[in-house]
Amino acid sequence: MSSRAPASAPTQINPNPILAPPHIHALLDRLHAKSEAQEREITSADYAQDKGDFDALMRDKFIALDRDKCWFVYSTILSMGAKNVVEAGTSYGVSTIYLALAVSQVLEMQNKSKSGSDSRSATGKVIATENEPSKAAQAREYWNEAGDQVASLIELREGDLRETLKRDLPTVDLLLLDIWSPLALPTLQVVQPSLRPGSVVITDNITGSAARYADLIRYLNDEKNGFRNINVPYNKGLSVSVYVGKE
Ligand SMILES: C[S@@+](CC[C@H](N)C(=O)[O-])C[C@H]1O[C@@H](n2cnc3c(N)ncnc32)[C@H](O)[C@@H]1O
Repeated sequence: MSSRAPASAPTQINPNPILAPPHIHALLDRLHAKSEAQEREITSADYAQDKGDFDALMRDKFIALDRDKCWFVYSTILSMGAKNVVEAGTSYGVSTIYLALAVSQVLEMQNKSKSGSDSRSATGKVIATENEPSKAAQAREYWNEAGDQVASLIELREGDLRETLKRDLPTVDLLLLDIWSPLALPTLQVVQPSLRPGSVVITDNITGSAARYADLIRYLNDEKNGFRNINVPYNKGLSVSVYVGKE
């Protein structure tokens, strides 16, 4: 018997896990393409964060989370059954669309698998954060274009996230840190009291920006702060820190 697979057999798993209607796939393709085109234009010197004009340089830039990292975060939310997600750094809301899709699908799974005696619907949301008003306004337009499945699950908090995340957080299942590196640790410390044991903190560019993340990395590595960390080796790294609770 031949062990060769028939010519039509797939040879690799489909790497894109996103279940979404065609117009959302098209929107995401368009937004990632814009973000990637902008990033090709920015030089590494422009990225030096100690330049006074860094915020001005970034005011109209997407700097969206890489597509494969978005796929990973989406799958993580589905696997954990995460219902309440905080996104630190929303920009034009590209990664937020993935977060909202994933949360909507978790809620759908949980509502389907409910026992007959439980009449309450599962609820959840994505808390997005952006301090640049023009980005916040455009993000809302993209979410509306995605439609109700996405837009209805997003609560956008406008302003400095070190203030806007201080109040009214639900128990948080997942925190995505996709924010300027000096803000990452302060953001984590604002959200940490709302994390539950087993929740997850995902940090972008953890190896690419390791020097700038020194304080965050020191904090995550210190066992007494309650995190168990692993780096997923995407471009420039993506760390996954599981919160097991403080000692
Ligand atoms: C890397 S981008 C986020 C990209 C987004 N997650 C995506 O994948 O589309 C970081 C964003 O954080 C915003 N930001 C910077 N400082 C902030 C602050 N103090 N409070 C809220 N947002 C802030 C920036 O304006 C920028 O748009």
